[in-house]
Amino acid sequence: MSDELILILDYGSQYTQLIARRVRELSVFCRIAPPTLSIDEIRRLAPSGLILSGGPASVYDARAPQADARLFHLGVPTLGICYGMQLMAQQLGGHVTAATEREYGKSVVRIDAADALFNGSPRRFVGWMSHGDSVTKPPPGFRALAHTDSTPIAVMGDPGRKLYGLQFHPEVAHTEGGAVLLKNFLYNVCGCTGQWTMQSFIEASVEQIRSRVGTAKVVLGLSGGVDSSVAALLVHQAIGDQLTCIFIDNGLLRKGEREEVIGTFVGKFHFVVDAVDAGGRFLDRLRGVTDPEQKRKIIGEVFVRVFEEEAKKIRGAALLAQGTLYPDVIESRSVFGGPSATIKTHHNVGGLPQEMQLQLLEPLKELFKDEVRAVGKLLGLPEAILGRHPFPGPGLAVRILGEITEERLRMLQEADRRFIEELRRSGWYDQVWQAFAVLLPVKSVGVMGDERTYEHTIVLRAVTSVDGMTADWARLPAELLERVSNRIINEVKGVNRVVYDISSKPPATIEWE
Ligand code: XMP
Repeated sequence: MSDELILILDYGSQYTQLIARRVRELSVFCRIAPPTLSIDEIRRLAPSGLILSGGPASVYDARAPQADARLFHLGVPTLGICYGMQLMAQQLGGHVTAATEREYGKSVVRIDAADALFNGSPRRFVGWMSHGDSVTKPPPGFRALAHTDSTPIAVMGDPGRKLYGLQFHPEVAHTEGGAVLLKNFLYNVCGCTGQWTMQSFIEASVEQIRSRVGTAKVVLGLSGGVDSSVAALLVHQAIGDQLTCIFIDNGLLRKGEREEVIGTFVGKFHFVVDAVDAGGRFLDRLRGVTDPEQKRKIIGEVFVRVFEEEAKKIRGAALLAQGTLYPDVIESRSVFGGPSATIKTHHNVGGLPQEMQLQLLEPLKELFKDEVRAVGKLLGLPEAILGRHPFPGPGLAVRILGEITEERLRMLQEADRRFIEELRRSGWYDQVWQAFAVLLPVKSVGVMGDERTYEHTIVLRAVTSVDGMTADWARLPAELLERVSNRIINEVKGVNRVVYDISSKPPATIEWE
């Protein structure tokens, strides 16, 4: 795939994954590891360079995560960012001064010396700061290379030992020349050549999948979302019809979704797809259930049961392919008990039981979402699937508050279809992270002609977000909301009121259940 590896040790910064994405964007492969990774393991991995991330701690905290002192004597080029820089300074005999207050926001960084790190960089640029402590005396062998008005040592370096520290965050978009500095570190200091491209990833993983699978058969649960679609394409590229996709229609999909998925994967790509019509089974089990977690549990259970039954029918199936992504497997954050590592897991309803005796094949588990999209694009996945909003595993069940009945499902599907249609038509679909309709379990009074009505309420939800962890309500134009509302009330029988959700996450969530 790529022999070049940059290892990012995660000291708990909210930006660690961003560092990794920036490095990948510069065509260098990298992995995130916990700071407890042993020196022997680092030697074994033989990275071309190390990046120590920022973190919330102060090097003076009793429980602050430490660096093994030997880390800086491995002869591996190392870049410390913020907390990473302070650790480097402290460990190597410099001086770190504890802060009385944090410096947060944009500062003008002024470069004071020539260095390979600054090739092609302006002499002054805006850097994003978020720190308490700062380095006030560089360690022996280091020089101060840049400053800001309030931070005398904004960059320090020992070019002979290839050790550098940045007090600001080069990975965030607010730091103007951040990408240039990172590129210089990777290419000029670490000597990387940029072998990580999605084309090379595809070629290498196709080879790997072929040799791992041999003549066995592989099954894959295709949902029509980006991840499972790209995983399917990649596996199919490697082993063709040895792959069988199982598409379970749980009756809780958006209107037209099944036809679209089947049209693409059977019609366009000629995959073997086992489309299972299981809507009846799901709805029977869900009858009378109103508790959101109970709904999720039932859907998860029925899904596993149906999937197992179908997989058993595929003779010679030995592997189960899944579209697990890199952010799902990074374990380093949990070292600090941060909440973000655990939020997504409770959402995964599709976990399959161990007894299935299928080996897992996870061809995307090294990739970030934007890389998965790039792979999908190279493999010809249509834009309509590539640019799809996330859709929860339990589907519309968690968007029908209260009991799920055929009639309520119909109302929601019809309303949702009109909302999405209008978003696409107006060009807003691609500008929001996720958008959907929700059906409330309340009726309200209205008038239609001379008649008084007493009917259902639809909520429209549209949010902007980067990763679903936080979100803001999308400022959709009033005219667009008006059009959607008119269409839903006029065209969807049983709905007489449409409201728009203007809550952000936190404290609200994106979904209503
Ligand atoms: P919340 O509602 O927690 O949603 O703000 C964050 C993201 O997760 C999706 N989500 C789910 N995905 N199974 C899933 O596969 C679930 O049970 C589930 N619940 C929420 C949600 O659509 C949003 O993108």
